[in-house]
Amino acid sequence: MRIVLVGPPGAGKGTQATRLAEKLRIPHISTGDLFRANISRQTELGKLAKSYMDAGNLVPDEVTIAMAKDRMEQPDAEGGFLLDGFPRNVSQAEALDELLKTESIQLDAVLDLEAPEDEVVKRIAGRRICRKDSSHVFHVSYSPPEQEGVCDVCGGELYQRDDDTEETVRTRLEVYHTQTEPIIDYYKAQGLVVTISALGAVDDVTRRALEALKRDK
Ligand code: AP5
Ligand code: ZN
Repeated sequence: MRIVLVGPPGAGKGTQATRLAEKLRIPHISTGDLFRANISRQTELGKLAKSYMDAGNLVPDEVTIAMAKDRMEQPDAEGGFLLDGFPRNVSQAEALDELLKTESIQLDAVLDLEAPEDEVVKRIAGRRICRKDSSHVFHVSYSPPEQEGVCDVCGGELYQRDDDTEETVRTRLEVYHTQTEPIIDYYKAQGLVVTISALGAVDDVTRRALEALKRDK
């Protein structure tokens, strides 16, 4: 399957993508994670991306599209993929369409995770991520690690993202409404959008997502 995951910052895209990718046996491709990996390796791309990310703005399309394309062309993505955080505006969606067209492949669904603003703000404020593996995500109240600051899975140090400050979150939400939400209408016109609520327990949301994707097939 080829799926795009869309939803406001903090809706639980990364959390759900890790689980869905495992169940559906497709790679989880997160442009946010790819940028953060570049930042920790201190690459030129990482240095460029960091200034935009810390301010809560989108990294320019040219570098983002090239990075996403490169990742989608890796052998493990041949049979399908789950895109998390890409596309994030209409011109990225158009670029993805072009890329898929040249490969004669199509998206199967765009899964839209819906969550109210007060909830996503709470989720972001309490999020803690493992330095060793970004798919190990915790929340200080909703899914706390057994030992404060230490990853339950691998023992890595937990940290708070630089762009999870109150001010940056406000900008990220605004960017989501003005630049990312329009892709939902773009994909609705292609009959691809499946909307589910991101509220409730993590397992319930995963179940809901799998049901919705099945129903759509
Ligand atoms: P990105 O990394 O994509 O961040 P985001 O879209 O802001 O989303 P988040 O990672 O904040 O949230 P999430 O929805 O994944 O939530 P999570 O599962 O962690 O992008 C960051 C930046 O990179 C952008 O601002 C931009 O600068 C740049 N960028 C990335 N892609 C780009 C692109 N295509 N173009 C240009 N720039 C780009 O969950 C959040 C918390 O809630 C966690 O603590 C989790 O444990 C908890 N939680 C999850 N589900 C539940 C639940 N059901 N109940 C209770 N708690 C829950
Ligand atoms: Zn870990």
